[in-house]
Parts: sequence; C-alpha cells; structure tokens
Amino acid sequence: MSLTFSELRLDLASALAHFLDPEEASAECLRWFDDGLGWERTRLAARGDEQVPEDLRHQVGQWLRRRREGEPWAYIIGFAMFRGRRFAVTRDTLIPRPETELVLEAALEIGHRLGVRRVCDIGTGSGILGISMALETEWQIVATDLSAGALDVAKSNAESLGAVLKFAQGDLLGAVPDSLELVVSNPPYVDPADAPSLQRELAFEPAFALFAEDRGLALSTAILQQSADRKARAVVLEIGAGQGPLLGERAVAMGWRSVAVRSDWAGHDRILIAEN
Ligand SMILES: C[S@@+](CC[C@H](N)C(=O)[O-])C[C@H]1O[C@@H](n2cnc3c(N)ncnc32)[C@H](O)[C@@H]1O
Repeated sequence: MSLTFSELRLDLASALAHFLDPEEASAECLRWFDDGLGWERTRLAARGDEQVPEDLRHQVGQWLRRRREGEPWAYIIGFAMFRGRRFAVTRDTLIPRPETELVLEAALEIGHRLGVRRVCDIGTGSGILGISMALETEWQIVATDLSAGALDVAKSNAESLGAVLKFAQGDLLGAVPDSLELVVSNPPYVDPADAPSLQRELAFEPAFALFAEDRGLALSTAILQQSADRKARAVVLEIGAGQGPLLGERAVAMGWRSVAVRSDWAGHDRILIAEN
C-alpha cells in the first residue's frame, strides 16, 4: 500500500497521541520529521505528496515500537540539542534537559564576573556543560565523570564540536588534581523516594546519573564541601525543586559567604550559587 509523507505525518501524530498528550505528540511528530527523517516543515509543505520509500516506513515502524515502550526519542535517534548544538547521547548518559541551559548561563555570568580561568564540570555526562564552556570562553576546563561510558561519549562530542578541554574519570572533585576557581555541576539530585512517581521514560536513563542519597542532596552537599576545602571561589549547581533552602543552609554552614538560589521558568528552585 502506498503512503505519502503527508499521510505518514498524520498517521504518526495519531500513533504518538496514544501515549503522549496531544501537544507533546504533535511537537514530537515534527521532531521525528526534522531529526529522524530529515524532512523539515518547509519540505513537508512543498513535497508532502511524495511517496515514502519502503525502508523508511520500516524504520519509522521500528522507532515507534521502541517509543511505545517508553524509550526517549533522544536515545532512539542518538542525539539531543543543547544550546543549539548537537550532542550524541547513549544509555550511558543523561539526556540534556532545557533547564540545564540556565546553569550554563549562570556559570558564564559568575565566571566572567569573577574573572576565573580554571573551571571544572563535575559529572559531565554527554559533556554539555564543559564543552559549551570550552566553546564559549577562554577558560581551562576539566570535565569529569565517574562513568567511563559517559566520558567516552563526552570526548567524542568534544571532538565533533571542536572543543578543547581535559577529561578525567573519578569521584567528584577527586578527579581534578589542579587548583580550581569555579566548580559547575549538574549532579544526580533526585530523591530515591520519589522514584515510583517519576515518568517511565526516566527508567531508561542511568540511575547513577539521577539519584542521590540524603533526599537527593548527598552529591550536591559533597561538591559544596569539597569546593570549599579546595578554596574554589564559586560553585554553580543544578538542584531539584524545593532543595534550595536546606542546601543553602548547608552551604552557609560550610562557610560560603554568599549563597543564592535561582528558579527555572516554572518557578522551581533550579540553581544554587555559592561564592566566597
Ligand atoms: C544528572 S547527570 C548530568 C550529566 C550532564 N552534566 C548533564 O547536565 O546532562 C549526573 C552525572 O554525574 C555522574 N556521576 C554520578 N556520580 C558521580 C560521582 N560520584 N563523581 C562524578 N560523577 C558522578 C553521572 O555519571 C552523570 O553523568
């Protein structure tokens, strides 16, 4: 049976709407066409009556089967966009989230204000923070992760994006031998007690990239403490909704002189900035 690209778009939108809400389904459908099939909106409008080749129909059917099982589109297609750049992702890495762009913006603002040179990205995952800073500043960046699989992905992203930075494997700041001025991190910060109520798509992402003991605060607290011990001038951390007050209190108790919490677009605590 023949099928045109316009018909495929309608079929796909309705198939996605079976397990996504309608708005999400139509946005995701366009992403499948843009990123998966290389058919942007204008091409679809101009040439939507062309026939879909058999191998492409088969491919879309396979993607749909995986997506129905809850696998995120970024893992299926193998990349996600962050700050307008394409980052490869695998099941070893967290999928970049839009709110992490706020962390990058805060890090650039604080780092430029303080005139820092030596900066690290702890728990770099696919490398989004460290690589973006390396591409947008003159800073010397070290990006670390405990996961060798994640570091492989980050290194390959750095190479394809032309970013120059160092990578190190190890536990938090232990992987960074040099002195540091600015510590940036989106650490695992989800409370394991919240796991049952989370979206099923999160089950595809590595648990060690998401969850932290102590109500989600264990790694954020350790990063603040280790950065204070290392006499870093500032820390910029991504945090979870509602984590600002307690983490802020802890940072003050560690001796950080100025502690501020910023919200994301939904009004949730999202960034903690500690400075000396
Ligand atoms: C929330 S993900 C963030 C990834 C990436 N920075 C991003 O924003 O998409 C946390 C990352 O921290 C890494 N990680 C977990 N525990 C760690 C530890 N003790 N030391 C260093 N990295 C760790 C995980 O492998 C994961 O890549």
